[in-house]
Amino acid sequence: MSMDVRDLDDRPVIIGAGIAGLMTALHLAPEPVLLLSRSPLGADASSAWAQGGLAASMGDDDDPILHLTDTLAAGDGLCDAEAARRIVYAAPAAIEYLARFGVRFDRTPAGALRLGLEAAHSRRRIVHAGGDGSGREVMRALVAAVRSTPTIEVIEGFEARRLVAEDGRIAGVLASGAAGPVFLATARVVLATGGIGGLFHDSTNPLGSCGQGLALAARAGAVLADLEFVQFHPTALDEPKRPMSLISEAVRGEGATLVDETGRRFLSGVQGTELAPRDVLARAVGNHLASGHRVFLDVRERPGPTFARQFPTIALACKEAGIDPARDLIPIRPAQHYHMGGVAADLAGRTSVQGLWACGEVASTGLHGANRLASNSLTEAVVCARWVAESLRGIPARRAQQTFASDSPSPDPAAVRPVLSRALGVVRNREGLEAAARALLPLAECADATSGPAVVGLMITIAALQRRESRGAHQRTDFPLHAAVARRSEITLEAALRTARELEPRLECLT
Ligand code: SIN
Repeated sequence: MSMDVRDLDDRPVIIGAGIAGLMTALHLAPEPVLLLSRSPLGADASSAWAQGGLAASMGDDDDPILHLTDTLAAGDGLCDAEAARRIVYAAPAAIEYLARFGVRFDRTPAGALRLGLEAAHSRRRIVHAGGDGSGREVMRALVAAVRSTPTIEVIEGFEARRLVAEDGRIAGVLASGAAGPVFLATARVVLATGGIGGLFHDSTNPLGSCGQGLALAARAGAVLADLEFVQFHPTALDEPKRPMSLISEAVRGEGATLVDETGRRFLSGVQGTELAPRDVLARAVGNHLASGHRVFLDVRERPGPTFARQFPTIALACKEAGIDPARDLIPIRPAQHYHMGGVAADLAGRTSVQGLWACGEVASTGLHGANRLASNSLTEAVVCARWVAESLRGIPARRAQQTFASDSPSPDPAAVRPVLSRALGVVRNREGLEAAARALLPLAECADATSGPAVVGLMITIAALQRRESRGAHQRTDFPLHAAVARRSEITLEAALRTARELEPRLECLT
């Protein structure tokens, strides 16, 4: 690392450079800020892989109240209605703001936004860019804007390994890169680290997204919320490649159908059929696969000849898998796609730890409830980044009393992946969850590369064990109904460890 990091002391540090991190940095300008990115800017962020775009009520037949109604219905009784209201009402302005940054949204020949339909939306309200390349296009524009903003200091190739707290407040970040560990003294840290797909075999997320922000926050004592709600996308391309290629809901929005190996549209009994909420569809597809069928997406009639032009990224993935969508059915299966849970945060990103903010997928603001409405997540990141930046401004700088120098290994989720994939899938039960907790506890208690992912996996597992009902994306065969009262869940690392230890006498760490 060529710069002297002492020169950067006291600036806010944003960890993660997807849409949430980049937008927060841009909103903070001209206040100096340090943006920490594990990879070259834009290279490894799940934001860049987003095919669906941003949900916003921009159509003539639409209104934020309709967007709110759809969001709350998809969230299955668990959304924070006020948080959802504020976000959906701010969404149209956020789209206009992105356009001013040079994001080239798809438009009609007359220049109006071309609005797409996705599952569980009652109106066409998905703003896309580059067809199915929305995330890539938004990232292109934001990376360019960040690169040309002199007050944003980008540190690439460094990964945050630990948050340092003094007197219960954030005092700095220990990070590590090729040149070794560095200590960044700061009283303001924003987590914008994305999701947890790397903890599952079947996921549409980059492998490197393995809950790093959740582990950092949990170890700093933060409260995490709604961790049991893991969203599975019903239509990932079923081929050996990992991570899996997503086949956007927008394809079904344009009329594609789901069939099995006999050609039967097996969803005829499911309300909403191909455009049912994502949790409903993921279970229907999962059940059909579990009963020995294969499941395919049929795009031959609709969208038909326009498919490759409308969905170039998906058309390329099919081609690479040897599938010709004009002629062949596209094999699909559900895959982990998004985490509704995260670090408990208000809309300005404030967490339970003083000096720690969270924005984007790593945060749990209550917008998504038990099941995220499609394309609400990029919208949330863009909208909330402004409020996070406003809340960071004006917090006085506070120098750390001491500096720290220690290194720890980069997280390795390999041992955690089979455990979560088995127990925390589309359907769960007590036996499987308890077995997972017993397997994860000793891994979480060891100070090695597995422990961060294991801490996150354990906390998700305990949250899932403690939710004795089925709601949204959390379906338990042993508790198949809603509980009488819908309650969001909260958990700390200390509480999760205590619960796991009570399941079984503590196992000795063997590594
Ligand atoms: C999709 O395009 O189907 C995914 C959109 C999203 O996850 O919001």
